[in-house]
Formats: sequence, C-alpha cells, structure tokens
Amino acid sequence: MQQINDRVIKIAPSILSADFARLGDAVKEAAEAGADYIHIDVMDGQFVPQITIGSGMVKALRKWTDLPFDVHLMIESPERQIPLFVEAGANIITVHSETCPHAHRVIQMIKDAGVRAGVSVNPATSIHALDEILPEVDLVLLMTVNPGYGGQKFIETTLDKITRMRAEMNRRGVKAELEVDGGINLETAPRVVKAGAGVLVAGAAVFSSGKSVKESIKDLRTSLRSLAV
Ligand code: DX5
Ligand code: ZN
Repeated sequence: MQQINDRVIKIAPSILSADFARLGDAVKEAAEAGADYIHIDVMDGQFVPQITIGSGMVKALRKWTDLPFDVHLMIESPERQIPLFVEAGANIITVHSETCPHAHRVIQMIKDAGVRAGVSVNPATSIHALDEILPEVDLVLLMTVNPGYGGQKFIETTLDKITRMRAEMNRRGVKAELEVDGGINLETAPRVVKAGAGVLVAGAAVFSSGKSVKESIKDLRTSLRSLAV
C-alpha cells in the first residue's frame, strides 16, 4: 500500500504474465515484493479467446500467500462459476457488465458468500452501464485495454473515462475501489492515478519487465512519487 496525497494506491500484479509452469513461486514472489492483491485473470475461450485459469488452480495457489486474491472473471455466465471460486479462496470476485444481464443478482450472490464484489466494463462500454449497480459494489474495474491478453498497449481514451468515473463516484459518495487493468507501466501508472485510479493491475510491467518482480513493483511505486504534493 502506498499513500499518494489523500489516496491509498494498491498494486495488483496479474499472474497472467508470469510463468504458468511456476505460478506458486510467482504469487509468493509478488507477495514478498509488497504487492497488495494478486490479480487472477480467468478466461473461458468464449467471452475472450483464451482459456487461462480455473478454480482448481486458484485453490492450489491459495496456500502460497495470504494476500487477497482479486479474481477477474472474463467468462460468460459467471454465476455458474462463482461458488467454485468462492470455495477456492477468492477474496474479490469481479464480473463483466457485458456478461451480466442480471448484474444485481450476481453481485448479491458474491456478497452473500462473504466475498467482495466487483464489476468491470470494457473500453467500449460506457461507465453509465454501471449507474444502477454502483452503490452495490465494492470495486469498479475499468479495462484500459480490450480484455483477453497481457502486454497490450494502454488505450488512451480510457484516461478520460477514469476521470469521469472518479468524479461520478465522488459525487455519489461511492466508497468502492477504482481499479484499472491493462497497459499499466511506469509511464501510464502516474497518469491513471492522477485521473483517479486506486488499484493498479500490472502484468507485463511486473512479470516481464526484464527486472525482478521486487524491482518492478518498486519502480511502479517510485513512478507515482512525482504526484505527491
Ligand atoms: C487482460 C487482463 C489483464 C492483463 C493485464 O485481459 O485482464 O489483467 O493481465 O496485463 P498487462 O498489465 O500486461 O497489460
Ligand atoms: Zn485482469
């Protein structure tokens, strides 16, 4: 955790960019390097092209760290999988607005299981898709790339979207965390935090930067220091 002016900034390394043959070590390394959450990208080959991590893997990773597991469900019909991820030890479960015609019911299902509930929108989906669900959620995840792959380039138009979302949350007194995901690196991190983000997901910038996980997380935090007034 890092305090920048009046805001706490959290780093959530995405293990999508880690070596899948040694995810346990990756989780442990990120925790030792001072990560706040472990971001786990679940993809089903339907909502997005790839198939990545299932609840069995989350359960296996649970014994490698006590850090909160921030599970990002990029899957159709997430309500079918939620009980499995709860049982596997997820601490935050985020569903996509685009996959949830009955978002209210799905968010309640997550919260009733004692897990924090998040909702996400793709770059092309308006923040107004979240207007009615906003008071119910613990986390809002704005995609800053199109979901599906790690290591993509930050989509510039999402910066203004973060600003508008933060303003809307402040105006309505919504206390949910505002997380951003995709293309976060040393250059974009200070810009998204300035726009209002509180949780930064970072995959490639942590696990394939060419430096150690520890140094990469430290560099991300250092990049934010310029914002302190
Ligand atoms: C993309 C995933 C992201 C991804 C981010 O669909 O939701 O969490 O791992 O990767 P980077 O930080 O490399 O853009
Ligand atoms: Zn993600």
